[in-house]
Amino acid sequence: MSTVVLSDQFSLVNSWINELRNVETQHDRLRFRRNMERIGEIAAFEISKDLDTKEIEIQTPLDKIKVQEIAVQPVITTILRAGVPLFQGILNYFDKADCGFVAAYRKHDANDYFSIKQDYLTCPNIDGRPLIIADPMLATGASLIEAIKDLLTNGSPSQLHIVVAIASKQGVETIEKEYPNAKIWVGAIDERLTSKGYITPGLGDAGDLSYGEK
Ligand code: URA
Repeated sequence: MSTVVLSDQFSLVNSWINELRNVETQHDRLRFRRNMERIGEIAAFEISKDLDTKEIEIQTPLDKIKVQEIAVQPVITTILRAGVPLFQGILNYFDKADCGFVAAYRKHDANDYFSIKQDYLTCPNIDGRPLIIADPMLATGASLIEAIKDLLTNGSPSQLHIVVAIASKQGVETIEKEYPNAKIWVGAIDERLTSKGYITPGLGDAGDLSYGEK
């Protein structure tokens, strides 16, 4: 489908991303989580413009009026644990959505920084519904591809939206190739990955900054 970079035109999103990246501000854990959440909120607002609508009639104190409403509520999903604040931001706006969760982590063995271990999935039926996946750091794309594969065992969504705070160029290209019908909403795209699979300049470890070092 396409990739939208939310920081391409300056807005408050840029200031929030700056705070997420900056070593002088990123260790305020509450503020880090809240900035992630705010990016999720903005992405949710933008995604809402892409959703199919239906006409409904409502009664005001003065008259009846025909208005547009979301036709089918989305299913919002995330990858535990780093994705939770970004996910919460999306859920703040789609307050009637159903939710799903995937638990996945990098093994971080001495000589293997890339293998993904996935051990938990819960997701409602997504058949014919817009599916939104919140993944704050799109590095190689490997864990996201695994998560999407598992989520798609729960049905065939009408739309696939992927919300990311910071992505590597390589990660975006990988997901665009693997899921050409997906729309990626990304805060910012960075050029490179380190040999350990971290996005650089990036922001470090989003899970640790949100919830503490493991
Ligand atoms: N996950 C993170 O938290 N940071 C990265 O740079 C890559 C993956």
